Amino acid sequence: METTNKSLMLLIDKRIDEPGGIVRLRLRAPDGAPLPPFTAGAHLDVHVRDGDIDLWRQYSLCSDPACNEFYEIGVLRDPNSRGGSETLHRIAREGETLEIEGPRNHFPLHEEAPQSLLFGGGIGVTPMIAMARRLQVLGKEFTLHYCTRSRSLTAFQSEVEAAGLSDVVVYHYDDDVGTTLDLHAELAGARGESHIYVCGPQGFMDWVISHAQAFGISDDRIHREFFSASVDVSGDVFEVVAEKSGVSVSVSAGDTIAKSLSRAGVKVEVKCEEGVCGTCVADVLEGEIDHRDHFLTEDEKQEGDMMCVCCSRAKGKRLVLDL
Ligand code: FES
Repeated sequence: METTNKSLMLLIDKRIDEPGGIVRLRLRAPDGAPLPPFTAGAHLDVHVRDGDIDLWRQYSLCSDPACNEFYEIGVLRDPNSRGGSETLHRIAREGETLEIEGPRNHFPLHEEAPQSLLFGGGIGVTPMIAMARRLQVLGKEFTLHYCTRSRSLTAFQSEVEAAGLSDVVVYHYDDDVGTTLDLHAELAGARGESHIYVCGPQGFMDWVISHAQAFGISDDRIHREFFSASVDVSGDVFEVVAEKSGVSVSVSAGDTIAKSLSRAGVKVEVKCEEGVCGTCVADVLEGEIDHRDHFLTEDEKQEGDMMCVCCSRAKGKRLVLDL
């Protein structure tokens, strides 16, 4: 897993307003210095600040992993979000700077796979574009299925063309039955050691993943990336002990461990607060976890010795954390 916590101030070198409420931002070092390297599937943590808004948001890199001159991200304006994307759309102007951390990669490409099938729904195509660029360089067999509502609302078309990916990207539009994605046929045609990658809205991801599982594709060959998720923090009250800090708090229904501990003076770093980025993962010393995140793998959840404290809860009355 590729991770760097170094914070950087980057210049917005180019803003491109794409169809479908998506803006593409090209970011460079103000002095033109080379940027830290990244691998396909990586994202940036972007600090979005304006007035009362002070959030960190995760945006996948769609630029070429071989290029260290600039990063490029795509941001969908989402009126249902907590304000990060709308704010970024409003404040991101060429010549302004943005604070970023990363790149980090929780969605790495398995470059050794003989065949890869990439499924991007809407803005979920961004990491897939970086993956497609890399797979093309490696000369691997792959197809990128890009699903959107309609042709006129499809972003990144010029980028796909400019990157020479037109032959390996298949567009599927909701309003054009002639382009419907035949997932059954695609998966039936997948080779034995194929790897599947999916990113997009929850329903789209569930659809692809459940079909892949039904075709007997093992979980270690199905890779998913969540941009955001709804968080259910309902449940009974429980106690959390932050052992190293010598602090104990009660977490009520509707509250989170991270917020409860922060109020008691225990510093817990959070970013997405939706269980998707992994920033808040803490080691669990005692107690049974009610995992509600989308970050830990099923195996990690089964092991029961770590949890995302921004959203997950206790199954019992008490948890002891190594904080
Ligand atoms: S803050 Fe992102 S997973 Fe908890």
